[in-house]
Amino acid sequence: MNTIIKVSNLTKEYKGLKAVNDLSFEVYEGEILGLLGPNGSGKSTTINCILSLLTFSKGSITVFGEEMKPSAYNIKEKIGVVFQEVSVFDELTVYENIDYFCGLYVKDKKKRAEYVEDSIALVALEDFKKFYPKQLSGGLLRRLNIACGIAHKPKVIIFDEPTVAVDPQSRNNILDGIRRLRDDGATIIYTTHYMEEVEILCDRVIILDKGSIIAAGTIDELKALAHIEEKVSVHMGKPDESLFTLLKSDKNVEAVSYDDGVLKITYVKDENNLVGLIDTLKEQKVSYSKVYSERPTLNDVFLELTGKDLRD
Ligand SMILES: Nc1ncnc2c1ncn2[C@@H]1O[C@H](COP(=O)(O)OP(=O)(O)OP(=O)(O)O)[C@@H](O)[C@H]1O
Ligand SMILES: [Mg+2]
Repeated sequence: MNTIIKVSNLTKEYKGLKAVNDLSFEVYEGEILGLLGPNGSGKSTTINCILSLLTFSKGSITVFGEEMKPSAYNIKEKIGVVFQEVSVFDELTVYENIDYFCGLYVKDKKKRAEYVEDSIALVALEDFKKFYPKQLSGGLLRRLNIACGIAHKPKVIIFDEPTVAVDPQSRNNILDGIRRLRDDGATIIYTTHYMEEVEILCDRVIILDKGSIIAAGTIDELKALAHIEEKVSVHMGKPDESLFTLLKSDKNVEAVSYDDGVLKITYVKDENNLVGLIDTLKEQKVSYSKVYSERPTLNDVFLELTGKDLRD
């Protein structure tokens, strides 16, 4: 695997607060690497260090094998960035905004016109080319922000929480677009605090908490860290203590709880748990309305490693 970005022992402090603490990771060519972490975990700080927009106390960063510096324009022109805050010009239309940002890198007018159209198509803004940013909904504005960041067809693209506060349609459009950019050969860093997005989008994930990496790997590798294998929910009336005792006597059951009309059972192994459970419920003459099973999520991994929810 070709390493495109290498971050080694990166530490960034703000007056004694380690916003990023001894971070080391690599980004491989053609992958979508997810940086997943709650608010304040250091995602934006990491990205801003990679882009040389922030100085840092310790560590080193290379991009395409070269040391990243504020003056490394040859590297910077190969990187597209979509910042967390929307940054477009209010006085320019959708088309003019994208054309402006693309024009910073692509001087050839014919090629630029093609690139601008490509990026408009990628985020499906065809019907809004003549609109001004103030006339766009939040989701459309985010899509414009993305088009501005990627129009020059950079080899590396960094997205900092591009789907915060967008409607589901725009979210799907954005995630689809990012996948297409990867399929066209871009290498992508995607930061978010939404584990669902990471699960459907990213090839590999780094989980951050308080500036440190707490886990890294593919989705399957990470899920293997959560020692539970299955979670079953049963919608039913309040069970008797005896049912709790019976269920807990199974060595494969890690925990049983009842809350808000739902009995939840977590299993440490995947062993036809659902079939066994339904048999038990029948034997005990327990009536229920709905039963469903879930695999562990990245939240379970986070919970296991930090003792708290990703969404605290
Ligand atoms: N300019 C700054 N001065 C002081 N502290 C800062 C500054 N920027 C960030 N921090 C602190 O550094 C830590 C990491 O912040 P950062 O913005 O990188 O987190 P994040 O993971 O991007 O969070 P979010 O999901 O809210 O965007 C936080 O504790 C934050 O308060
Ligand atoms: Mg951030």
